[in-house]
Amino acid sequence: MNKDNNKMEEIVSLCKRRGFIFQGSEIYGGLAGTWDYGPYGVLLKENIKRAWIDRFVYGKFKMYQMDAAILMNPRAWEASGHVSGFSDPLVSCKKCKKRFRADHVDGDKCPECGGYLGEEKQFNMMFKTAIGASEDESAITYLRPETAGGMFVNFKNIVDSIHPKLPFGLAQIGKAFRNEIAPRDFIFRSREFEQMEIEFFVEEDEWEKYFEEFRIQMNEWINKDLRIEESEYSELDVPKDELAHYSKKTIDFEFEYPFGRAELYGLAYRTDFDLKSHGGASGQDLMIEDSENKKTVPHVIEPSFGMDRTVLAVLITHFMKDEMGEGGRVFLKLPVNLAPVKIAVFPLLKNKPELVEKAREIFDELRGEFKAVEFDDNGNVGKRYRRQDEIGTPFCVTVDFDTLEKDNRVTVRDRDTGSQERIEIEKLKEFFQTKFS
Ligand code: GAP
Repeated sequence: MNKDNNKMEEIVSLCKRRGFIFQGSEIYGGLAGTWDYGPYGVLLKENIKRAWIDRFVYGKFKMYQMDAAILMNPRAWEASGHVSGFSDPLVSCKKCKKRFRADHVDGDKCPECGGYLGEEKQFNMMFKTAIGASEDESAITYLRPETAGGMFVNFKNIVDSIHPKLPFGLAQIGKAFRNEIAPRDFIFRSREFEQMEIEFFVEEDEWEKYFEEFRIQMNEWINKDLRIEESEYSELDVPKDELAHYSKKTIDFEFEYPFGRAELYGLAYRTDFDLKSHGGASGQDLMIEDSENKKTVPHVIEPSFGMDRTVLAVLITHFMKDEMGEGGRVFLKLPVNLAPVKIAVFPLLKNKPELVEKAREIFDELRGEFKAVEFDDNGNVGKRYRRQDEIGTPFCVTVDFDTLEKDNRVTVRDRDTGSQERIEIEKLKEFFQTKFS
């Protein structure tokens, strides 16, 4: 996986330079597998979440949101099979002691130093933590390795409080933690990450129909909402012998990252595995009436989305270069709904109070309407364009002397084409409403 390291490096560097994503605990030398989101990274994630909720919660299917605790009773992770089965094969080098995922190395020699690799062991990826003051076994629990568990253990609460009929789904956005043996490729594989997951409960004989429905919805999400071209991703039917312990069928959506084609999302048919396991282990009735009023344990379709991989795919797909400006430029051609800032407002010169005052007035007005609007008076206009291009701001508005002395118009510059047009101040709101609709 070494296809376009340059592009990856440029994206990592843009993320740091412009305040999207920083290495976790950077001033202490970092903490492997952790990343911190800065102001624009947070805004980008918020926009992704909003778009995801619009499509999947307020979309085609009956869906309820959840926000379950990250810490759960450890019995839940025993029942789900994670305590015994959530592991990756690990090998360590006898010479340099480095650890690798066995399925990521060829042969019995260390890829780093050429030393011999030891025996393969299973390494459980759940982070253990101790609850309360005592550190005995009874107080051990885990940071959740997937958000899914919190939805299964609340199935009964939802049925008893909301009384939904099948089919319906639970949707949750939240952090998940995995002690990955080899975190790598920026935010692609980290130890702390965010997931957006759905557990969709159906009658057994309808699982194929809803699997297909979600396959289509996931394609539309990638293609229409994130604007990732069809040529940049594909579906992979996961071979039977590679399926997770709970799954009978899984499709991986794979994206063409600069380091190679790899998983972006998963769509799994989890059967009735989880509710049966939790029902058995907790002694609770995790059943619901089907369409013939018979009690049944529903089957589950699970579309699972990594938030950080979404951010990465969005950055990669919309990262552009062209010849505009001195020495060319880099820009993020983000769709308006995802752009952290929609409009930036500048006074042509920052030391002319009359320009600044007018620009502030316009900024206040636009911010009241469109929220994600920024005032920028750093450096010269060329530098401001460069910065706004790099954070993906679709439009810049400049107040100049003609605005005040001649025409009461401002210059609106389009990020993608660089074209500029003079727009009357009174018509600005309407102009942007039309652009954003
Ligand atoms: N509940 C099902 C589940 O967790 P998964 O394929 O293990 O399935 C789902 O994870 C998604 O979470 C992946 O498709 C990916 O987007 C994201 N993901 C998994 N491990 C990750 C990691 N270490 N770093 C970043 N994202 C990760």
